[in-house]
Amino acid sequence: MNELSSTMTAPCVTKIGDKGLHITLSDGGAHYFNYYWLRDNCPSSFSSVTRERSFDIFHLDTAPRPNLASFESDALVINWATEDHVTHMPLDWLEAYTVAKPRYDPADLPRIAWYSDHYLNVPRFSQPELIADPKKRADWIEAILVHGFAIVTNMPDSNEGLTQTAELMGYVRPTFFGDYFDVKTHIKPTNTAYTSAALELHTDTPAEEFAPGIQFLHCRVNTVEGGQSLYSDGVAVAHDFRKRDPEGFKLLSEVSIPFFCEHDTYDSRSRQTVIELDQHGEVSGLTISQHMADIFDLDQVFLDDYYPAFCRFGKMLQEDKYMMRFMMKGGECMVFDNHRIVHGREAYSATIGDRYLRGCYVDRGEMRSTYRALVGEGRFKT
Ligand SMILES: [Fe+2]
Repeated sequence: MNELSSTMTAPCVTKIGDKGLHITLSDGGAHYFNYYWLRDNCPSSFSSVTRERSFDIFHLDTAPRPNLASFESDALVINWATEDHVTHMPLDWLEAYTVAKPRYDPADLPRIAWYSDHYLNVPRFSQPELIADPKKRADWIEAILVHGFAIVTNMPDSNEGLTQTAELMGYVRPTFFGDYFDVKTHIKPTNTAYTSAALELHTDTPAEEFAPGIQFLHCRVNTVEGGQSLYSDGVAVAHDFRKRDPEGFKLLSEVSIPFFCEHDTYDSRSRQTVIELDQHGEVSGLTISQHMADIFDLDQVFLDDYYPAFCRFGKMLQEDKYMMRFMMKGGECMVFDNHRIVHGREAYSATIGDRYLRGCYVDRGEMRSTYRALVGEGRFKT
């Protein structure tokens, strides 16, 4: 008998309690499971066809309670006193839920911060290989989850090419600008992006209650003078801001400020914190846009502290250490996390050459969902 098997014990029921079952599992540990949880999550509660829960616990007349409960081979068997039903609960399901914690998520990957010298290391994928190879699609999405930024090369010079690329990740998600947007010089611009002026670093459409997640910017042609693209990793800047200015970090990550975007047919408003934290308390991204920041409606004395912190952070975003600069080339599509990567451009001359970008968005949840499906994670995987 090896050391591992000598410490294993046969699982057993130690007590049928009033509201739940006391059991000992093979690791020798004592555990408790609530009867509602055991009944609701009986394997028969789930349809193998739809992969959804087909049992509705709201239809139980009385609180679930067992007559008998015991272990048989690798399952806990419960005869319910309150209905004509027997549950066979696999041991591995019980073992997965002995401690209250969120379910493992393969899309919850640690982010790697990047700096101004990142351009040559930006993960690149050609559109034909993404279409042909699901493994490449998983690598592409993983690169965006980790770095927040990737470039798709060999894009077709067509509107359909952009749709095709976005749909490899999820559904195109409209904003108040429509399903797609065209960045070129407009005669009557509704947005600074539609002029040839410099565009300060920002995230897109923060005035929406849920700003779009992943941005696709397909460069169809770029032969103008000037107009270098500017990108900074909000995670890198906010990480350093947290160390450099803890009080400022606290203000920007806890206090929401108003954003707006209005024109003839829309009046979009929201409140967002400038620095976003994830469920682990780590920086997940930013929401920032000088052209969509509304008039701050916060207490004027509070603004004595908030505004200087806001400006310290805004200046830090523009430091050379963080800003990646490059010229986009026709046939490339920038794909980046709009809640993490701030983007902008230098002014360009509209008199020589052409500059045309076409863009759209996919939500981050769609991207994570596609990633989990591609890497084979799922309760009902076969
Ligand atoms: Fe933008």
